[in-house]
Amino acid sequence: MQQLDTERLRQHVADQLVRARERTALLTDAVDEHDLVRQHSRLMSPLVWDLAHVGSQEELWLVRDVGGREPVRQDIDELYDAFRHARADRPALPLLGPAEARGYVRQVRDKALDVLAASALSGHRLVDHGFAFGMIAQHEQQHDETMLATHQLRSGPPVLHAPDPPAASAGPLPAEVLIPGGVFTMGTSTEPWALDNERPAHQVHVPAFFLDTTPVTNGRYLEFIDAGGYAEPRWWSQEGWAHRQRADLSAPRFWRRDGSGWLRTRFGVVEPVPPDEPVVHVCYHEAEAYARWAGRRLPTEAEWEKAARHDPATGRSRRYPWGDTDPGPDRANLGQRHLRPAPVGAYPRGASPLGVHQLIGDVWEWTSTDFHGYPGFSVFPYPEYSQVFFGGEYKVLRGGSFGTDQVACRGTFRNWDFPIRRQIFAGFRTARDARPEELA
Ligand SMILES: [Fe+2]
Repeated sequence: MQQLDTERLRQHVADQLVRARERTALLTDAVDEHDLVRQHSRLMSPLVWDLAHVGSQEELWLVRDVGGREPVRQDIDELYDAFRHARADRPALPLLGPAEARGYVRQVRDKALDVLAASALSGHRLVDHGFAFGMIAQHEQQHDETMLATHQLRSGPPVLHAPDPPAASAGPLPAEVLIPGGVFTMGTSTEPWALDNERPAHQVHVPAFFLDTTPVTNGRYLEFIDAGGYAEPRWWSQEGWAHRQRADLSAPRFWRRDGSGWLRTRFGVVEPVPPDEPVVHVCYHEAEAYARWAGRRLPTEAEWEKAARHDPATGRSRRYPWGDTDPGPDRANLGQRHLRPAPVGAYPRGASPLGVHQLIGDVWEWTSTDFHGYPGFSVFPYPEYSQVFFGGEYKVLRGGSFGTDQVACRGTFRNWDFPIRRQIFAGFRTARDARPEELA
């Protein structure tokens, strides 16, 4: 989002809230009441929990905090506090039923739009440039992506439909791209809706390295499987191998062998695994094992962001690989526009100045970096957004997936998850150090 005058900003905010709600409605109207209230996996909340939770956060931040209005439903605050109840325990709570939840989020939204109409969108940090409204639009879109992952875990016939992504059109691409060494600006102090963990902008020195031009494809990943990669402890970290054995991993989640080939289940559709698409539904440990088998490694988070944002011509960091303009359908596979990653080479107009493709959209990319605050980090507006997750338990993922909305995706956006997670739309690309003789 670029700087806008107040009335255009107000309209922009309203548009983002409306778009998020349309997607929430699509995801929750696509299934029947039984599928809304049941738990499709212990990893996920019932869809009806996500729905009312979205409303509950909107009520807390926009209606009560920004608007100073009376609570709509203070009695349910506790039920929808993500820190009070683990996902696995949520089905047992006395949750609002589907009709009640829908009525509740509608009521909250009416009040939030009222608050928006009355807000100066400036004067204190929570509302400057519409921040709190943008945070709530991002929050809803993030839950929409989580609900999309719940849909992927749901069994039964397909209920979601979308056109296929564009075909590859970039022509032959080199396997890897050299990212020159030197300092670049990581993070942001100016992006109005950036969250606390993306701030502040700071200088980072990144030595020269090579990065895969595209995410690792299913076809390449199959070579790792066929080479016995899942049976060879030497490719895995100690922790990764222990997990591989405990969880009995032998292929990406949702794949199964079919004679000499592989099938996958994707939102209820069973189909052959397409070789030219980025691999998805692999955990950090699998990504790391593949990289080691390939004689490479995962990129650090700083390497990923430098590849995505550094413009060698000007030395400045862009908002996106292609420049500062918001993503469009010709640049990146975002926003559930398609229900799958696009084949590699499908978005030549989304490439970075150095020629790295599909950094934004398609699949979240695992990095080797633990989730921490940047130098100079300060909590805003609440510690539970990111600070409580800092430490060695979570790995950073970058770039967004086909299920990530553009409002919750930029060159600086940071996602994090446990290294064993596979239900998220995560893949990876690999990197290697540059040798001195390659830097003539
Ligand atoms: Fe949430």
